[in-house]
Amino acid sequence: MSGDLVNNVNNVSLDENHVLKNRKDEDHVDPWNVVSSSDTGVDYDKLILRFGSSKIDDELLARFEKVIGQPVHHLLRRGFFFSHRDLHSILTRYEQGKPFYLYTGRGPSSSSMHVGHLIPFSLCKWLQDVFNCPLVIQLTDDEKTLWKDLTVEESYKMGLENAKDIIACGFDVNKTFIFSDFTYIGQRPEFYRNMIRIQKCVTFNQVKGIFGFDDSTVIGKIAFPAVQATPVLSTSFPDIFGVKKIPCLIPCAIDQDPYFRMTRDVCPRIGFDKPALLHCKFFPALQGAKTKMSASEANSTIYMSDTPKQLKNKINKHAFSGGQTTVEEHRKLGGNCDLDISYQYLRFFMEDDNELEEIKRKYSSGELLTGELKKILIDTLTPVLTRHQEIRAKITDEILQNFMTPRKLC
Ligand code: TYM
Repeated sequence: MSGDLVNNVNNVSLDENHVLKNRKDEDHVDPWNVVSSSDTGVDYDKLILRFGSSKIDDELLARFEKVIGQPVHHLLRRGFFFSHRDLHSILTRYEQGKPFYLYTGRGPSSSSMHVGHLIPFSLCKWLQDVFNCPLVIQLTDDEKTLWKDLTVEESYKMGLENAKDIIACGFDVNKTFIFSDFTYIGQRPEFYRNMIRIQKCVTFNQVKGIFGFDDSTVIGKIAFPAVQATPVLSTSFPDIFGVKKIPCLIPCAIDQDPYFRMTRDVCPRIGFDKPALLHCKFFPALQGAKTKMSASEANSTIYMSDTPKQLKNKINKHAFSGGQTTVEEHRKLGGNCDLDISYQYLRFFMEDDNELEEIKRKYSSGELLTGELKKILIDTLTPVLTRHQEIRAKITDEILQNFMTPRKLC
């Protein structure tokens, strides 16, 4: 078994069946659940060791900037994208003028996406502009039917709604193909054939180890990881790539890494390059960084469809405060930015480093109160949501159809 499946750095967490065991004091991160043992959230350095990925360090960012001839996106600069696999090889291909594509996705579990989803999709949009390359976006409506209390029809419909949220992030229709598994897998036999090639390489024992499946897991779930792996094989998209074997780069949050550890193990065995990955941290739930923001937990979540009033109420009512219990104490001791959710959210959305630093200084010294910090967050996020909703409202069924039609991309 390759190093992608067996964690060679910290293999104390693997049992004899290669099952990743979480010790009690460890964070739990898989594609369906994220729970941290600490109030400040997941320990990402430990996660890098456990998953066997590589840290995005200053040297890599410097190379990135040199290769693309411009500063990197603030999500990279601020360390939200903190881990990678084989990014160097993608940068080298770019330097050499060799092709590659981007691949990302969404599992439609709610009709609106949430602000946390903007993290991978914003970076994808930036990467598409910078690299001028094709992007494929998978809507795993099948995954959500299998894992959630949703019918085939419901998750398919949510996928179409989510596609509008994705398009509103500004993707170029000439370079982007969005597909629903329920539709596309029946449209192109090349996809299904590749899926079977992958399924033939992975045993039940391996997916038990990677995903924690057991004897009572429904068979649809057991087979599903191959569906998310298949877009990594460029020949699954004959309209875009023909029969050419082209590698891809996958931006996603680190919860999706188990799928791609499995995929990276399989690829060389069926004659394809391993996919490269860029992993981001989790946008935390409103109640605190112990869990990630999740579309199926309405109270922990700011949806892209929330009205300014809903946004204001949610932040004022639920956003966990790192401030002190009384104004007097707060003025004396100051607030804790590491715990404060409003400050943490600002780190994602406030692009001006100096302004953010000034807010941190004032909040930590007690000069700024929790209510005032929340107001800054509300004033920052309201225009983001309003603008998104305005753009989304203009996305007609025809535009959606254009993005979702299998076709040649520029
Ligand atoms: P899903 O719908 O859970 O999430 C979509 C993308 O958003 C990331 N994400 C988050 N990022 C930051 N903070 C959060 N709180 C947060 N919650 C989710 C996810 O990591 C993902 O990148 N199975 C996938 C769909 C999929 C996919 C892919 C994702 C299919 N192919 C390829 C990434 C790459 C899913 O259910 O994602």
